[in-house]
Amino acid sequence: MRPLEDRRFLFVTGKGGVGKTTIAAALAERFAAQGKRVLLTVCDAKERTSQLLGVPALTQDLREVKPRLYAVKITAERAMEEYGLMILRSRTMYSAVFDNRFTRGFFKGVPGLYEWAMLGKAWYHSIEEQDDGAPRFDVVLFDAPATGHGLDMLRVPKIITEVVPPGILRRDAERAYTMFRDPEQSGVVVVTLPEDMPTSETLELYEALTNELRLPVARLVINGVIEPLFSPEEQHELLKDRTLNRSLPGDEALSGGIRRVIRERVQEESLARLAALPVARTELPLLLKEAQTPEAVQELAALLR
Ligand SMILES: Nc1ncnc2c1ncn2[C@@H]1O[C@H](COP(=O)(O)OP(=O)(O)O)[C@@H](O)[C@H]1O
Ligand SMILES: [Mg+2]
Repeated sequence: MRPLEDRRFLFVTGKGGVGKTTIAAALAERFAAQGKRVLLTVCDAKERTSQLLGVPALTQDLREVKPRLYAVKITAERAMEEYGLMILRSRTMYSAVFDNRFTRGFFKGVPGLYEWAMLGKAWYHSIEEQDDGAPRFDVVLFDAPATGHGLDMLRVPKIITEVVPPGILRRDAERAYTMFRDPEQSGVVVVTLPEDMPTSETLELYEALTNELRLPVARLVINGVIEPLFSPEEQHELLKDRTLNRSLPGDEALSGGIRRVIRERVQEESLARLAALPVARTELPLLLKEAQTPEAVQELAALLR
């Protein structure tokens, strides 16, 4: 299996709140520490990535925020404008086309065009070259939008290749979709938690990514893993008598213990279900301190091998 950092484009996805943004930042730190030139692209107007990296707020202007670590905030409108300009090569042409009532209507009619502009911008940076022909970045990491639209977004290049007439738009989408499907060049990093619902959604996501879209899942990151505290015998003892009389001293600690046992069991079951997926996995611990700090991100980065 090709190592993550040797692929040009990595798409970080998973259900909202599982730790995508945190892990995308940790991966970026890790790759930069390994000597790679990394671009982290963030599709979130209220980005927290800068806080996680300990750098000033990200803007829509791509910049090097740390040695070898570049970052940019992508918004749909700006990406759309850049894309339009890139295709049309001049602002006058751009205005003529994009401010024209007819073409505006046409672009609105292309499903997912705004999503494509964002994903396409990140993809474009992954094939961008310097003057000497060397790639501008070794790895581009794409932190998908918060709203669970990761999968919708990945569907767009495929849709464009199917519905849009031949032209620059379709040519780019075809090129990107071909690259996204190539495990030598791209990979999807799926992030999940070892809990019931996130596990079910991850199994569905994996199915859609591999069977429907034929995209290579490069890594499963199981985030927020807790250390089991109880042996099977202790688990059994604790779960034996669940009818507690809360007024008795000591019962509070006992119910805390029971809650923990239940959580450990759910985790065990979830890990077993996730083990069925034929993909390399990394488990990251649940941090007991505030995770939205550069220190926490560095700690997770060190564990991402
Ligand atoms: N391993 C972890 N341990 C503890 N808290 C974590 C961990 N990973 C992420 N978090 C916290 O969980 C919340 C959601 O993380 P975030 O990266 O924003 O998820 P997403 O991008 O998937 O919505 C944040 O408050 C983050 O600090
Ligand atoms: Mg996020």
